Amino acid sequence: MNYKKVNGIDLDFLKSVVGSQFVFTNTEQLNDYAHDQTEDFIFIPEVVVKPRTTIEVSTILKYCNQHLIPVTPRGAGTGLSGGALPVCGGVILAMERFNQILEIDERNFQATVEPGVINEVFQNAVKEKKLFYPPDPASKGSCFLGGNLAHSSGGPRALKYGTTRDYVLNIEVVLSNGEIIWTGANTLKNSTGYNLTQLMIGSEGTLGVITKIVFKLIANPIHTLLMLAPFESPEKACESVSAIFYAGCNPSACEFVEPEAFRLSSKMLDMNFVVEENVEAYLLIEVDGNDLDLMFKECEKISEVLYQHESKEVLFAETSDQKEYFWKLRRSIGEATKVNNTYKEEDTVVPRAELPQLYKGVKEISKKYGFRCVCYGHAGDGNLHVNILKDDLSDEFWNTKITEGIVEIFQLCKKLKGTISGEHGIGHVQKPYMKIIFPEHQLELMRKIKLAFDPNSILNPNKIF
Ligand code: LAC
Ligand code: ZN
Repeated sequence: MNYKKVNGIDLDFLKSVVGSQFVFTNTEQLNDYAHDQTEDFIFIPEVVVKPRTTIEVSTILKYCNQHLIPVTPRGAGTGLSGGALPVCGGVILAMERFNQILEIDERNFQATVEPGVINEVFQNAVKEKKLFYPPDPASKGSCFLGGNLAHSSGGPRALKYGTTRDYVLNIEVVLSNGEIIWTGANTLKNSTGYNLTQLMIGSEGTLGVITKIVFKLIANPIHTLLMLAPFESPEKACESVSAIFYAGCNPSACEFVEPEAFRLSSKMLDMNFVVEENVEAYLLIEVDGNDLDLMFKECEKISEVLYQHESKEVLFAETSDQKEYFWKLRRSIGEATKVNNTYKEEDTVVPRAELPQLYKGVKEISKKYGFRCVCYGHAGDGNLHVNILKDDLSDEFWNTKITEGIVEIFQLCKKLKGTISGEHGIGHVQKPYMKIIFPEHQLELMRKIKLAFDPNSILNPNKIF
């Protein structure tokens, strides 16, 4: 596809659509939108446009489609797979002015929001009405709901409550030719034709631009209890995870964390977390509900399983400050790794009971290739984030050999009947590995779907496959 370069983009037209103050071509602004949170990638767009309305988005897309100009929709830029990187240049469609919660419908337990609303702002707004929107990515304080849909983001509580895709009923989408559609209906059930809502979720801005979202909400659980279990053996920690469920427990979060991961975030945040001697892994487990007696009983049952798997003394976070302390430490791991080292973040996921095998295999592969990796993540979902650290490896090794190690890790995921991304998406960085999971004819099927929505491939081109 021959895309237009900047001198082919009619800036006056774009300014006439959104207002001249919302079209940016200065170096500083372009640099701000040249990266997301993925490694150190930089792709400079030719122009950043910040629309406010669906009609504006429609007019821009119609224009870009006619003139074959690549368009990269962008939320808050917190992505970890390079989904928002403008790899072909062109227009960045920055959705930050779509920042309104349009309606919280308490009668129906639903909310209609714009895609530029910050996840946590939305969570807090519905909580005030005693409602609950569970998906809680680590970046919930800054990431946008539109970006959450683009990747079907998860987070710790996805364990009990599911990921973003489980809470979306209906989406307003602008297609590449400017047409505006609603993908579904505002109903809890829908058996009416192909499910375009679910197709749009996880499509990483390659099929259309999301301009409104109707979410399903649930009742807010009143209480949470949080415990931290230290283990000398990471394998035993991993084994205890499926045993907890087998014992009939249903925690709202079950996170695995290597001590080095906590050390990094503690250092970055100055939080003085001390790793006890011989501890090689932690499980951070949350139970939620409305009946504290039942919840304490569940925690006791979980503790029994943990001790059966040789946990050292389990610590209970007693106050909300203590809970916040541990969650902050946990949520900051990704950022702390980035601040500390050059790294590649892999988002491996396997069936829960295969987690011990995944962990063991990842460590063997890291030993074989001679790289260090810090593991942490959503153990209850079998979703292990593997942060591969550059340390003092040569640039040459980092840019070539390391890929072979990543391929082995992903092959292991496949062997264990898992896949290469649980919640971060494919975007730019994981694209070369898609062929490990899917045969060519299946990738071709996906390409055909893409072309049905976007025949000129202007929307987030060169992503996913
Ligand atoms: C986390 C992000 C990186 O779980 O997914 O911290
Ligand atoms: Zn995660």
